[in-house]
Amino acid sequence: MKRIGILTAGGDTPALNATIHGAVTRANQLKVEVVGLIKGFNCLFNPRVPHVHLNPLFQEIPELDPTKGGTLIGSSRDFVDPNKKDDLDMVASRLQKLGIEGLICIGGDGTLNGLQPFAERLPTVLAPKTIDNDLGLNYPSEPDEYVRVNDAAAKAGFRYKRAESHTQFDLNNIVNYATPGYATAVFVSAQGVERIRTTAESHRRIAIIEVMGRHSGYIALGTAYGQPDIVLVPEIAPDLELLVSRVKHLYDLQKNVVIVCGEGIVDEQGRELGAETKSTDPAGNVVLSGASEALRGKLIQMIGDKFFQLYRRGESAKEAIFTRKVGHTQRGGRPILFDRFYAAQQGAKAVELLVEGRNNAVSVLQYSTTKGFYVEGYDANRFRDRWGLIHARKMHPSLYDAKTMKPSKLGMDYLMPIFTDAIGEDDMEHMRRTLFAPGNLSQPYHSINTDVHKRIRYLAEMV
Ligand code: F6P
Repeated sequence: MKRIGILTAGGDTPALNATIHGAVTRANQLKVEVVGLIKGFNCLFNPRVPHVHLNPLFQEIPELDPTKGGTLIGSSRDFVDPNKKDDLDMVASRLQKLGIEGLICIGGDGTLNGLQPFAERLPTVLAPKTIDNDLGLNYPSEPDEYVRVNDAAAKAGFRYKRAESHTQFDLNNIVNYATPGYATAVFVSAQGVERIRTTAESHRRIAIIEVMGRHSGYIALGTAYGQPDIVLVPEIAPDLELLVSRVKHLYDLQKNVVIVCGEGIVDEQGRELGAETKSTDPAGNVVLSGASEALRGKLIQMIGDKFFQLYRRGESAKEAIFTRKVGHTQRGGRPILFDRFYAAQQGAKAVELLVEGRNNAVSVLQYSTTKGFYVEGYDANRFRDRWGLIHARKMHPSLYDAKTMKPSKLGMDYLMPIFTDAIGEDDMEHMRRTLFAPGNLSQPYHSINTDVHKRIRYLAEMV
């Protein structure tokens, strides 16, 4: 294999450049050219196919910095519909015209879902990315637990449901233990909790902090490192009576409460609290907004104003209870060491998979309690249910304790290998040196897009 293409698809993460860097470094060693496709699948719908040569003369271009968040080749939520054969053929022929013999998609579960039709046209592998940590399996047989149930309200006339599991959860059996971007997102959200805490303490307030993660509670679970009092995850509907009594007890004791909630939390009927107005992004994902506000509404109603007036800590529940979203700060900025290190390895592995002749495969990060972390190739079809669909991984419920509303013992065992040494000394030193550099005040921000733009080439110029 002489030339491969690489693209970043879907929502970005801080570790994308690290993955690309790992791929390019390995490609340089193997004397393989790497072409970066601009803005994910979007560029393949453009007849000019904007692209960048990432390793001319087998040297990486200087713009490729693994410590920088975002992606130098850009990303979009565009995708190629696997049912549109003409689109697929067009895309394959454009890649062929570029001389691309194999494709690395850096993406999440949505991208993996669309991988098979590509793999029928040219060797294609996936290097995972997502802050949500929802690309993977809690155990290899997890896809077999999905069943279809009739649902007249659903577009297809059915929806997917999980049958009861009879599989013992074991950390050693997780497929893709953590995804690049997850550790940095938790790093940001846990810090957010620490910062909100002291202001909630000063002003005797109850803070509800909403973190990302869609329907998966891994980010919320990890945010426990910031020592919130209560963590709510989408997988387990909160017992509101228990929640209110815990909040009242804590407020009585310490005059402030900090609650972390995943954006996808649901009520007892399984309805998303944060999706009262249903809308979807271009890839068809429900846009989740407002879980924390909905929860706040419930607490205001259930606790009432009197509670706060009795304590002489404000006039109303509305005044005392506030919400904050950590938001897109979770997705951006410098990736921490854990993410950089393993993202690079997964990128490198993706190149190796292509060179070894693998197709329709994923470079996964595995963990063993005896060996630690290692990367390997995993067949993409093993992520699929019997109908061929890939489901986003949910946090395994045994990682969470619904009574304490915190990570369970197993949850702590899950988190510790990722986070104990996740921050590099250089991460801290980098902040010390750069954040308050005097030049930041006088120099305008220089966007990487400006530099990469100068390197963009088009298909027409090559023929
Ligand atoms: O999948 C990553 C993610 O950041 C989710 O956690 C979040 O719900 C969503 O993307 C936000 O997407 P957008 O940036 O398109 O609003």
